[in-house]
Amino acid sequence: MTRSFAVTRNPTPAPDADRARLMDSPPFGTVFTDHMVKATWTLGRGWSDHRVEPFSDLTLHPAALVLHYGQQVFEGLKAYRWADGSLHLFRPETNAARFAKSARRLALPELPAEDFLASIEALLRVDAPWVPGAPETSLYLRPTLIGTEACLGVRPAATVEYLLLASPVGAYFVGGVKPVSIWVAQGFHRAGAGGTGQAKTAGNYAASMLPQQQAQDNGCGQVLFLDAREDKYIEELGGMNVFAVLSDGSILTPRLTGTILEGVTRDSIIEVLRDAGHEVVERDIELEELRAGVSRGEVAELFACGTAAVVTPVARLVSPDFDLTVGEGEPGKVTMAVRERLTDIQYGRAADALGWMRSVG
Ligand SMILES: Cc1ncc(COP(=O)(O)O)c(C=O)c1O
Repeated sequence: MTRSFAVTRNPTPAPDADRARLMDSPPFGTVFTDHMVKATWTLGRGWSDHRVEPFSDLTLHPAALVLHYGQQVFEGLKAYRWADGSLHLFRPETNAARFAKSARRLALPELPAEDFLASIEALLRVDAPWVPGAPETSLYLRPTLIGTEACLGVRPAATVEYLLLASPVGAYFVGGVKPVSIWVAQGFHRAGAGGTGQAKTAGNYAASMLPQQQAQDNGCGQVLFLDAREDKYIEELGGMNVFAVLSDGSILTPRLTGTILEGVTRDSIIEVLRDAGHEVVERDIELEELRAGVSRGEVAELFACGTAAVVTPVARLVSPDFDLTVGEGEPGKVTMAVRERLTDIQYGRAADALGWMRSVG
């Protein structure tokens, strides 16, 4: 039976005109809908109290475990409004599975996949007007688990809260797709063997902030991390996976080593590219191999991918030792074709041959 969520309506939802203003190109993740979902887990009792509530601040004990030891996991996915007004999710079962896997790594309780999906549907039933309809816009969904038990001892929390927030987002690239420059992290790694790199958890992002700041100081929009063991192989960006398109049309992407986040977009792109006849190889890629390939023109295109931007072309690869332009420094053909293919599926402009879209109203 589908899980039901008790609904308490927001008595003061944003008036239509305010909502329209708030939804008009907000900076990413700064505007939230009228409601949120919560559910509570308690050791011995399990999950209870599944509910939709008015969006509001949280009340947390100052010793809540999440605040001190980062016992937290999250997900990121989007609801898309198609031209006929209907709402759809892209591969949400994959996010549900990754959410459960991340939870296991952080010793948090797993939220059953059917409850994960039902929580999104429950929120969309009350906040559907917040799903924008303009091209390339969407409602970003942020499922989160936090350890709420008040305890300064280092151990898994005996009380945990599930939260689902929703935030309307405008087109990632306004006025056309713009390539990004990436800085190779110097002396910092995002994740090590046996650590939490494969989990979507706050600590990984905390570790990426200083290198990200250094990327910005060096004129780059994103940071590229190398593996922690040998400081040699490219892994991923702070919040995106990475692909290289070779001049012969074949494609390389780092294999999943356990320290890389298994991106839903990454997995989908591999399928889309193979479907389009490209050879896609998942393997270790040395930074030196990439550098030499870009300098010699053998790497024709480089792109990053993730839920937020879908596909972002990379125009420059920068470190203290080199500053290289990839291809012509413009978005490449394969990059743009894969971006279009994926967004066409997400927005219902192309047939969903692989059964990736889930209708939610
Ligand atoms: C570290 C990291 N890698 C990769 C990705 C891309 O994952 P997805 O395609 O599932 O959004 C993300 C974004 O969520 C991320 O935070």
